[in-house]
Amino acid sequence: MHKLLTFLSGAALLLSACARPDTTPQGRLAVNDKKIDAVIAQMTLEEKVAMLHSKTNMSSAGVPRLGIPDMQYADGPFGIREEGVPNGFQSAGWQLDSATYFPTGSALAATWSEDLARLYGKGMGIEARLRGKDVILGPAVNIQRLPVGGRTYEYLSEDPILSAALALRYTEGVQEQGTAVCIKHFAVNNQETNRGSVDAQVDERTLREIYLKPFERAIVEGGAMSVMPAYNKVNGDYCSENEHLLNEILRGEWGFKGMTVSDWGGTHSTMGAMLHGLNVQMTGDTYLGPPVIDSIKTGALTEKLVDEKVRQILRVRYAIESVPADVANTKMTSQPECQDIARQVAEKSIVLLKNEGGILPLAKDVKKIAVIGQNAVLKTQSGGMGAGVKALYEVTPLDGIRKRAGDGVQVLYAPGYKNFPGRRWGPAPAKPNPLEAAAIDEGADKKLLAEAVKLAKQADIVIFFGGTNKSIETEGSDRSSIDLPTGQNEVVKALYAANKNLVTVLISGGPTDLRQLEPVSPAIVQGWWNGTEGGTALAEVLFGDIAPSGKLPFTFPAKLEDSPAFAMGNFPDKTQGGDLFTLMYRADATRMTREERQKMLDAMPKPVSKYTEGQLVGYRWFDTKGVKPMYAFGHGLSYVEFAYGPLTASAGADAVQVSFDLTNKGQMDADEVVQLYVARPGAKVEWPAKELKAFARVTLKAGETKAVSLTIPVKDLRYWNVDKNAWDLEHGTLQLLLGAASDDIRQQAEVAI
Ligand code: BGC
Repeated sequence: MHKLLTFLSGAALLLSACARPDTTPQGRLAVNDKKIDAVIAQMTLEEKVAMLHSKTNMSSAGVPRLGIPDMQYADGPFGIREEGVPNGFQSAGWQLDSATYFPTGSALAATWSEDLARLYGKGMGIEARLRGKDVILGPAVNIQRLPVGGRTYEYLSEDPILSAALALRYTEGVQEQGTAVCIKHFAVNNQETNRGSVDAQVDERTLREIYLKPFERAIVEGGAMSVMPAYNKVNGDYCSENEHLLNEILRGEWGFKGMTVSDWGGTHSTMGAMLHGLNVQMTGDTYLGPPVIDSIKTGALTEKLVDEKVRQILRVRYAIESVPADVANTKMTSQPECQDIARQVAEKSIVLLKNEGGILPLAKDVKKIAVIGQNAVLKTQSGGMGAGVKALYEVTPLDGIRKRAGDGVQVLYAPGYKNFPGRRWGPAPAKPNPLEAAAIDEGADKKLLAEAVKLAKQADIVIFFGGTNKSIETEGSDRSSIDLPTGQNEVVKALYAANKNLVTVLISGGPTDLRQLEPVSPAIVQGWWNGTEGGTALAEVLFGDIAPSGKLPFTFPAKLEDSPAFAMGNFPDKTQGGDLFTLMYRADATRMTREERQKMLDAMPKPVSKYTEGQLVGYRWFDTKGVKPMYAFGHGLSYVEFAYGPLTASAGADAVQVSFDLTNKGQMDADEVVQLYVARPGAKVEWPAKELKAFARVTLKAGETKAVSLTIPVKDLRYWNVDKNAWDLEHGTLQLLLGAASDDIRQQAEVAI
């Protein structure tokens, strides 16, 4: 009887589930399935297989005969990339493809603003449409595991909760404009060293709680329509043919209904890709072209599987209306509305790291400013490989300062140090540029140094621009250290000796080693690669038109060896070998035979990256191990002080709620980013000392008090129980730590969960 009842109620449940349409963000992607199946029934096998690989470098085929347009892709994540020639990345030489350059990933994350992330996505979506693009290759949301990571500047944060919230809003912003995101790089793509072959060996709990989180939210809650499997392997298998990642987690657990598009050159086999979750090979057809047809003929693969892949691609095609060719590219890509979004993000991203003696904002009576350092004039829109933007315009820091200073203030400039241009493509210039260094660790140039000191002595205030550039931090390689390049430490010391009124602005995407610079810089600002309006925003902050309000999305370690993967000896890997990706990509492009390619792959070293630091990424490590960083995760000062009132907290079945009063005690309007961390005293499960669980950006007028509420969904407090292979909640005491930074906790409370 009991069994019968269970069966009947099970059947009833099933029936009601069948009757109700799936209204989840992913479920909605399947609304056209009936229509799609009717279309698939009319397609030849050749037409279907043509959809499984690139048509050009930035498109994959539709079916013209049936009125299905090609899928057009465009690189993001910080601006719609310049149009390339059909079969490569070289410029197509267009006039109307200058785009808005948005602040790069870590700058966006420094805003800690879900609203701005959504607006940013909106801006990207608007410009993608103007260019006739269906899919933006972004956002890039991998966790910043290594301070030296070549793509740290593209990625958002070292923290999964912050990354996930921004990834979700970026995704929504883009897709609300009728463009799909292709969220990348799925997954555990945390290093550029040997990125084409490295095996990231990470335990299941860490994978779930840290590395997959940003993808999960954007896909499950944001309905991300496409996903880019990364170049690397995860636990033995390439991401583009990783059963666990693509079939079990992405499609199985998260209910993903859209398409996966391999990273460019990141497909590795026909059977692996077909059976384990890839839809589109980018680029080339070596694996998902003719070999698929051959495999069906021999019975190794079924046409049914091809149909399923085509259905997943067509779901995206049907969800995204293609822009007619005579409408696309008739207007300049960069639009004033989007330039304004770029400025808003830049304004809220700038982080005031230090401000001794209130040296900032600049005094109202300042008459002579010495701006020193090439990073004040170098444009940052291009470089860094795929994420470069051909910007319609870019306000450099010096432009911004000059414009804001106006006629009454003299702004002097000297380059101060040589720029390191990094690896060059194409022939070396006939005459070396005297402002370029041959090596990254070349010492200070005596002539440039003397000229800079001379200006510093005459000025009321010196603003030193240091940091890196997009040849030093770039896709394709990791930095070998986080040291400031080309003698910058020597320069800033000499400037300080000449004039103690000194402000340092760091222009970089990732952290740098500040041990020498910090003692000689009364004020330090992290200025990022801040997009088209970066210089405008920076000047507004320096002159005090707005209060700085960015907070670090990653830890600035005092020294590189303090950071987790280095301290554990997990990075760098000792395996030698070139950039294997480049070799494979070249092999694909030059169409080696299958045997030749296999021979080359077999001969390659097999590098691994062990993630034995586990969950202790970034501040989780520093806090748990008691290592003091130079600047902690979440740190960022303002021109005003904020008072945090006592915390009221309650725990329900679904959420933990906290509320408190926040007061702006200063004389100007300002934003504060409030951060709620949790600790678990007495827990049996191993946890980091504390973890971020909620945050908010609060705007307050001078003197204003606001009641602020924060919510932690209980599901975010769960851990991945490896024994049960499922999410689990450990009941017990939860300590709630509210503060202005991970090392600046102002109020505490406890609840039982
Ligand atoms: C990068 C991707 C990019 C693709 C296309 C690859 O090298 O890893 O992020 O979208 O190229 O440019």
